[in-house]
Amino acid sequence: MTKKIAVYPGTFDPVTNGHLDVIQRSLDIFDEVRVVVLNNASKRPVFSTDERLALLKETTADLKGVSVDSFDGLLVDYLKKTGCNVALRGLRTATDLEYEFQMSTTNSLLDPAIDTVFMMTSPQYNFLTSTLVREVYSLGRTLPSCVPPAVHKALLKKFSLK
Ligand code: PNS
Repeated sequence: MTKKIAVYPGTFDPVTNGHLDVIQRSLDIFDEVRVVVLNNASKRPVFSTDERLALLKETTADLKGVSVDSFDGLLVDYLKKTGCNVALRGLRTATDLEYEFQMSTTNSLLDPAIDTVFMMTSPQYNFLTSTLVREVYSLGRTLPSCVPPAVHKALLKKFSLK
């Protein structure tokens, strides 16, 4: 039987419990999920690509079927290079929809073989963004219930907090 493989792309600056929820639940649908750190032209990451990769590797280490990678370029080119034609994205609220619609349509235009599969995040994470997490830690407060322990530790270090 052919393996069902999805690529889960994102900035992951840093990975949150919301991302991990999508990864975990997607393993009920896909045999393999390849998490790939890509760059979002509209964001300047706080964590380097290597730091984001290391945090993703650590936090998904126990999940069978998950691998982690990074790529400098277009998602469609990564998909082509790795022979996969399914991109997986999490959806929190209707606010996400417009941007996701633009991206998935552009990706289909660039490569009609690609499909984007959307998975709703669990309700307890539908407010959660890496941007808000970074903002809170950068301004001296913490959100340990929103990120895995390794990410909490990395954020404390990054923003010189106790
Ligand atoms: O976690 P994010 O910031 O919502 O992820 C956005 C990301 C990284 C998936 C998107 O910006 C992306 O695919 N970047 C790679 C470059 C690319 O393919 N751009 C065209 C997308 S239409």
